[in-house]
Parts: sequence; C-alpha cells; structure tokens
Amino acid sequence: MPVTAPEHGQHFTYQTRVWMAAAIAGMGGLLFGYDTGMISGAQVFIEDDFDVSSSGIGLVVSAVTLGALFGAIGSGWLTQRLSRRAVVVLAAVVFVIGAILAAASPNVEVLIGARLIIGLGIGFASTVVPLYIAEIVPSRSRGSMVALFQLAITAGILVAYLVNAAFADDGEWRAVFALACVPATLLLLGMLVLPESPRWLVARGRVDEAHHVLDELRDPEDPRTGQELAEIVDAVEAEAARPKQSITRSLTSPLARTILVVGIGLGIFQQITGINTIIYYAPTILKEAGLGTETSFLTTAGIGALNFLATVCALLFVDRIDRRRILLFGMAGMTLSMGLLATLFAIGDFGGVLRWVAVGSLFSFIAFFAVSWGWGFWVMAAEIYPMFIRGQAISIGNAIQWGANFLISLLFPILLGAWGGAPVFFVLAGFGVLALVFTQRLVPETRGKTLEEIEAEWRRRAGVAVTA
Ligand code: BGC
Repeated sequence: MPVTAPEHGQHFTYQTRVWMAAAIAGMGGLLFGYDTGMISGAQVFIEDDFDVSSSGIGLVVSAVTLGALFGAIGSGWLTQRLSRRAVVVLAAVVFVIGAILAAASPNVEVLIGARLIIGLGIGFASTVVPLYIAEIVPSRSRGSMVALFQLAITAGILVAYLVNAAFADDGEWRAVFALACVPATLLLLGMLVLPESPRWLVARGRVDEAHHVLDELRDPEDPRTGQELAEIVDAVEAEAARPKQSITRSLTSPLARTILVVGIGLGIFQQITGINTIIYYAPTILKEAGLGTETSFLTTAGIGALNFLATVCALLFVDRIDRRRILLFGMAGMTLSMGLLATLFAIGDFGGVLRWVAVGSLFSFIAFFAVSWGWGFWVMAAEIYPMFIRGQAISIGNAIQWGANFLISLLFPILLGAWGGAPVFFVLAGFGVLALVFTQRLVPETRGKTLEEIEAEWRRRAGVAVTA
C-alpha cells in the first residue's frame, strides 16, 4: 500500500487501529476470564443435575487448567507452522466447539471432555494473543496494549460473576456455558480482518507485506516507522546468518536457558503466591473467616469488581513506570496482605473488626496483584524472548504457568482441610518473599525498548554476539 502523507488528525487513526487490533485480539482474554469466573457458580448446579461426587466436580473445575496446559504446549508447535493470527482463529474455533459441547453435555464425562477442549482453546489464546499484540504494536505502548489482555481477563471474571448471580435462581448452568460463544465468535470474526504480525511476516521473507502492515498501523511521518522495519529485518537477517540448529538446541543454548529461567520463574511466582486461591475459592476462605453464604458471595463479586478496576488503573501507568519497580512493589504488597491473612488465621479469632480485617487483606492482595503481576506476567512473557525461540519459549513458559495454576487450584482445598488456614497462607506468603528475591536479582527492565533491543541486551548480558 502506498504511503500517503498524513492528513490533519490522521495520527489518531493509526492509534485507533492499533487499539482496535489489540482490543479484538484481547477478546481471547475475555474468554479466559469468563471461564475462570463462571465455574465457581455453575459447579453447584452441575453437582445437583448430574449427582457427581466432589472429586468429579474437582475434575470439572480443573479440566480447563489441564487443557490449557496442553494448549500452551501445542501452541509452540503451531506457531512454528502457522501464523500468529491463524492460531488465534483456531483458538476461537476450538473454544466455540468446547462451549457448545459443554452446554449440551448429557453427562459429567462429556462435560469434563468439553472443559478440556475449552481449556485447549484458552491455552492457545493465552499464549499467542499476547505474543501477537506485542508484535504488532509500537514499543512505546506495548506494555499497555498487552496489558489489555489482562484487563480482558478481569472483565471476563467480573462478567462471569454477574452472569452467575443472574442465573443463580433457576440454576441455568447450560446457558452460562453457551454464552461464552458470543465473545468467541467476536474474536473469530475480528481476527479475520486483522493483519498478520509484521515480525512473523519478515521471518517468513514477506518483507513487502510487513511494510504494508506497518504502514497501516504506524504514522508514516514518524521516523521510527522505517527504523522499526529495518530493525526487524536486521534481527531476522542476523538470525539467518547464525549457524542453523534445531529448536531443541536453540532452547537449551546458554542464552535461551538464562531467559527461560526468567520467563518460567515469572509464571510460577504469579501463580504460587496465591492469586487463584482467592479467585477460585474466595467464598470458601470467607466462610472460614465466619461470613455467611450470601455475604461471602457478595464479597466475592466485590473482589471481581476491584480486580477489574485496579487493572484499569494499572493500564494508565504501565508504560510510564519501570516494570521491575512495579513487580517489586506489587509483590511486597501481596506478600504483606497474605502474611496478614495468615496471622489472622493463626490467631483464630474472627470476631468483630478482625473479620473485616481478613476481608481487607483479601481485597488488598487483589489490588496489589492487579496493578503488578496480573498484567506483568503476560507483558514480560510477550517481550523477553528473542525471535529465534519466541513462539516455543512462550509456549513452554505458559504451559508451566498453567501447570502451577492447576496444582495450586487442586491442592489448595485439600491442604486447607488438612492443615488449616494459617500454615497454607504462611507458605503462600513465603513464596512471595522468594518472588521478591527472584525479581530483584534476575528480572531485566524492558520498558520502552523494542523487541530487538531487548534481544540485543540479553546477548550482551550473556556475552553472545549481537550480530552474526
Ligand atoms: C492469571 C490468572 C488469574 C487472573 C486474575 C491472570 O493474570 O494468570 O491465573 O486468575 O490473572 O485476574
């Protein structure tokens, strides 16, 4: 497409296009969040309808995280063969199939299978959507654009809590599942009109098409536009000039290993510090702290709303404050909140004001998480890996993050029953301290750098040649 001189106000058009592209792709996050939030309500009615045991329900709940783990692994293989956009389309199709099957399931076995399929779609989407967004947006707004993915996750959780409440009276869990087809279809249709990732196009030798995409998404008057394409081409050429090696060798090279430790560590710490013990089990924790059923469900809805609103606030400063600082600040707050909750459980008295201090500690954990590690993991995962391992490495990091999610959500109710609240929450707070040390020592700063600059920085750190 010819590069036309921008008319008055056209700059806004480029930004709007970038925002729209990120928002459509971010719909994948909405699906992820909707599914995370809806199951807490639906499980009660599924239990009644199918007369399943509590371990059966455990499988219905956790099948999604397991499916997502496989989806994340599979997406590494898929991104080697298909474009980023094609994998997101596939994720939407798989998700629609899973949602329809779940809504129509005649028994619990089919429902568990359907939940696995839904998880597969979520695993694809959670890996490729942030990657795709990071590759199509300008570096100066990359953080906030990828953070839209987290905003969509929290919106999905909130919508699900509200839908749960709306359908609670008649127990219409099938409708709750079927509704997930709406955002999935929007994602599918939206992706069909979005462009391919310019970085993926250059890596496939399709430089002209990449130029065309950048023309559409960048201001041609901005000198950084030509520079960006040149940097992408340079990085790809430097890569092509390096001796060829299999993806397994690439992933086990010293450079890749150093980066993978950071990426995998971020995913594990995002999960094992306890976010989903609250998102999945808030009503259980609140009941343990002495709240009545209705109050604990209302409070859970409040948690969903706070999670969403704090993420909106985070979007405003994502690209203004260094990522490392926010991660350290957020983790310090999360750890203190978790420590406070553990201490209250150790005291064992939830009378009077202490009950509300416990509720406050859950709320403050959520707020600290939402402004930092909530979006932080997805943004860092999308930007720290160099092009030669990007698709595969994100998929490994995400699969392990889903694995940690699976284990925590499976073990939490068991350990809570066996050990009681205090030891469990103290262990989670202890993981928070480890996360602080990890972030302080190993996580690099990536804000404001292009993906190619981040790669060059890693190579400098590891003492590997920047260009061939
Ligand atoms: C995490 C999810 C979590 C959600 C809560 C995401 O970043 O990966 O596991 O449920 O945030 O907002």
